[in-house]
Amino acid sequence: MVTLDPHSYADAAEPDVKHTRLDLDLDFDTRTITGTARLELDRAAEGALTLDTRDLAITGVTDGDGNALEYELAQRDPIKGARLRVNTNGDAVVVRYSTSPDASAIQWLEPAMTAGGAAPYVFTQCQAIHARSVFPCQDTPRVRATYHTTIHLPRDLVAVMAAAPLRKVEEAARPDRVHFEFEMPQPIPSYLFAFAAGNIASRDLGERTRVYAEPEVLDDAAWEFEDVGSMLERAEALFGAYPWDRFDLLVMPPSFPYGGMENPRLTFLTPTLLAKDKSLVGVVAHELAHSWTGNLVTNASMNDFWLNEGWTVYAERRIVEALEGVETRAMHAALGRDALDRDVERLTKKDPMLTRLENDLAGVDPDEVYSLVPYEKGFLLLVALEEAVGREAFDAFLAKYIERFAFSSITTADFEAFAKEALPEGVAKVDLAAWIHGTGVPDDAPVAKSDKLDAIRALAQRYSSGERPDAGQLQAFDAMSWQVFLSKLPKTMAVEELKWLDETFALAASNNYEILVGFLAIAARSGYEPAFAAASATLQHVGRMKYLRPLYVALVEQGERGKAVAKETFARAQAGYHPVARSVIAGVLGS
Ligand code: BES
Ligand code: ZN
Repeated sequence: MVTLDPHSYADAAEPDVKHTRLDLDLDFDTRTITGTARLELDRAAEGALTLDTRDLAITGVTDGDGNALEYELAQRDPIKGARLRVNTNGDAVVVRYSTSPDASAIQWLEPAMTAGGAAPYVFTQCQAIHARSVFPCQDTPRVRATYHTTIHLPRDLVAVMAAAPLRKVEEAARPDRVHFEFEMPQPIPSYLFAFAAGNIASRDLGERTRVYAEPEVLDDAAWEFEDVGSMLERAEALFGAYPWDRFDLLVMPPSFPYGGMENPRLTFLTPTLLAKDKSLVGVVAHELAHSWTGNLVTNASMNDFWLNEGWTVYAERRIVEALEGVETRAMHAALGRDALDRDVERLTKKDPMLTRLENDLAGVDPDEVYSLVPYEKGFLLLVALEEAVGREAFDAFLAKYIERFAFSSITTADFEAFAKEALPEGVAKVDLAAWIHGTGVPDDAPVAKSDKLDAIRALAQRYSSGERPDAGQLQAFDAMSWQVFLSKLPKTMAVEELKWLDETFALAASNNYEILVGFLAIAARSGYEPAFAAASATLQHVGRMKYLRPLYVALVEQGERGKAVAKETFARAQAGYHPVARSVIAGVLGS
């Protein structure tokens, strides 16, 4: 037995699944999916095929011709789920099953939790290790498969997938039902499997790009993302031809737990990006960048997650730089560094080993150790390499990296070996081992520099020592400047200052969630009374973990009053949170 991924039972000595054919029947009343998964292997099995499942009820397993096969479903492991072992010498396995209402990848939403309020909604989020709760699979990014998926659902709903849509079909036998068929012709790892269904409409933004959203938010979404076509062209100029045909966007209901998810051909996005001023499209640049770094060149397991995210933050900031200039890139990098330092401090108390780039996550739930270390420390390492060799040489290295490893999954050791071979001058100047296997951030890490950044920081610095800035200066701030300014203010401030900031600049009413949450976290922690209700309202409206955690932590740290607000808010809001978000916040509240 050869297991290469600590989070999967898949055995590398057995055949790999190369094509998956899924038939999924959605039942919104019971919150279950009745499914058939036909797994086609790259060669005949030699006695056994080992699969990952979590909370699946298996009703039968056959070979490709319908002959029953023996199988064994093991005890459920709290992190990995239940191993399914099928006795077979064939090259196809068909599993009939149904999902659990508590499937970790699937969130079923009541109509009240959508923008329209009239139709239910369902979506999947398979990264990191949740695809196994939707269908039995080798749930490790080492294995890539193509897909054909049929989704059956009530006729007034629409299904969309991270795949090419083929057709919509009326069901003769069930007049109240329809089904949608999709195909994913390029092989993808299981964590990139994704679908959503609900009252979903769409609008074309360009030749290769379309935005999908509930009709109620479609206008806003189409406006906010209208420049994505040119972003795609910029990205191609940097990283090579876009390899996935289409780059469509799906604006999710507010409970979506991430800012974005790079599902191939159809990026899923939080509606909190709809700031009405295009100030948060950096998240779209990030998910687009994953089309190369992550979806094309993929981490071999969550131990190597920094290869996905570090490279992608680097690529995202190259796109931002190309579109908006070096000043804006520097602001993004500076915000990233501040957030990294906060996470390193938090993790150093919990387990300093989690501040390394390459990790050993055996026995560890990847959702529980999610942090910005793979993102921002990974970014800094790549910038250090770039600064060591110059941009031209680094760009050649990047192009080679993508070409060499396209459509494959690589470990950190593969990266190190490749860097030594393809970027020897960089490796001579940058201590790769210290970056990758050491804890914390090296002292000589690159630092973002810009005059605008310095000016904003100086202003925040003076304010911190008691000198209130001139209102006119702040009035002139763009969204990014506000974010940097807020991130540099102290964690608590005098209530009259919060009142001044709030009343003069309407920060608690900002459409930009980074500003809103940045302000509310300071204000709530400082006991500024109006912030309690505003924070509570925000926490009941959105489920993006990036906002839940700081607001809940700020409330808890404020004291008894804040704690009470936090507990009361969580009691009301938790049913609407994604299961992963729910458990992360339960941890914060110690409940
Ligand atoms: N792939 C991640 C989201 C993710 C990571 C989901 C791990 C589940 C497990 C996505 O690309 C991401 O990084 N999103 C960020 C965007 C930000 C860094 C611009 C987010 O959600 O905040
Ligand atoms: Zn990412």
